[in-house]
Amino acid sequence: MRIAVFSTKPYDARYLEMANRAGHELVFLEARLSAETASLAGDADAVCAFVNDDLGAGVVSALADGGVRLIALRSAGFNHVDLAAAEAAGIAVARVPAYSPHAVAEHTVALILTLNRKTHRAYNRVREGNFALDGLLGFDLDGKTVGIVGTGKIGEVVARILGGFGCTLLAHDPVESSICTALGVRYVEFDELLGASDIITLQCPLTPETFHLIDAAALARVKPGVMLINTSRGAVVDTRALIQGLKSGAVGSVGLDVYEEEADLFFEDFSDKFIPDDVFARLLTFPNVLITGHQAFFTEEALTAIAETTIANVSAFERDGVPIYPVRAATGG
Ligand code: NAI
Repeated sequence: MRIAVFSTKPYDARYLEMANRAGHELVFLEARLSAETASLAGDADAVCAFVNDDLGAGVVSALADGGVRLIALRSAGFNHVDLAAAEAAGIAVARVPAYSPHAVAEHTVALILTLNRKTHRAYNRVREGNFALDGLLGFDLDGKTVGIVGTGKIGEVVARILGGFGCTLLAHDPVESSICTALGVRYVEFDELLGASDIITLQCPLTPETFHLIDAAALARVKPGVMLINTSRGAVVDTRALIQGLKSGAVGSVGLDVYEEEADLFFEDFSDKFIPDDVFARLLTFPNVLITGHQAFFTEEALTAIAETTIANVSAFERDGVPIYPVRAATGG
């Protein structure tokens, strides 16, 4: 099949070419998929898209008019796709449900450890010959309570790693994981998790229910000085409310790999320009905020698995008319 691959970075092209033993025709496009760029799909049978591509109703309809029959997502999350519009247009949607929960879980723990022990600040100090410890004080993770919101594939690995640090683990998820229960995780209501956790980490998908789950009301109920980590999707957190929480001291530190308006920023180099988003720029001014640009997934193992599953989805669709991992409007899965 002819596949128009949007938002292509050099590493995407490298891993997709390695996985493409089936010989699909891959057309690599640097452009992000949007209403303006949808026509670049040309006469492709499928488009391959990433997390910040626009797959709203308008784009889906333009793709259908051009003859696209499959949207193959290189991601687990599919909150950016108008599934009803795709179904109505007769376009199948496929995703990569699990490529490496370890990649995201390990990055989550990296954010916790870095924020806590301030190794990013220590690195810069030592390089300048400053060996003072003032401002680098951390706390033992052993014995601290961590609240995990969402104990799916990633949340389970987070629980396993943090259990090894001696943390007390709470979780909130409408579906309890027997793996987590066996690890000693105690499931509680969201309010109890907010009030009892020293660290809260978000590992749930972005859905209408989780949009701004962490808002001003939630931040009013957290343990003072809580550490908040978000490696799920930006819009699970209300950024403006978070900034207020940081200013009041209700929130002690924040580690983010995702941001609700990241589409216009992340994966691009702004170092010679200016940051056009004032809310994001404000976040960057806090010494107790650590941000990475949606890199939690970025390991060799994950890129290999993403590429292999994406090609397998396309091959299955070409052969059977159904990808291996379809996403459907009614169930989302
Ligand atoms: P998963 O589907 O295995 O687990 C998600 C869990 O969240 C499920 O157990 C579900 O029941 C739970 N959940 C749903 N609604 C909830 C709610 N209102 N409150 C609490 N829990 C709720 O998904 P997986 O693989 O663990 O990934 C989770 C999310 O992480 C993805 O949806 C994606 O948005 C994000 N992600 C981020 C990446 C990054 O690079 N930063 C990479 C991969 C995924």
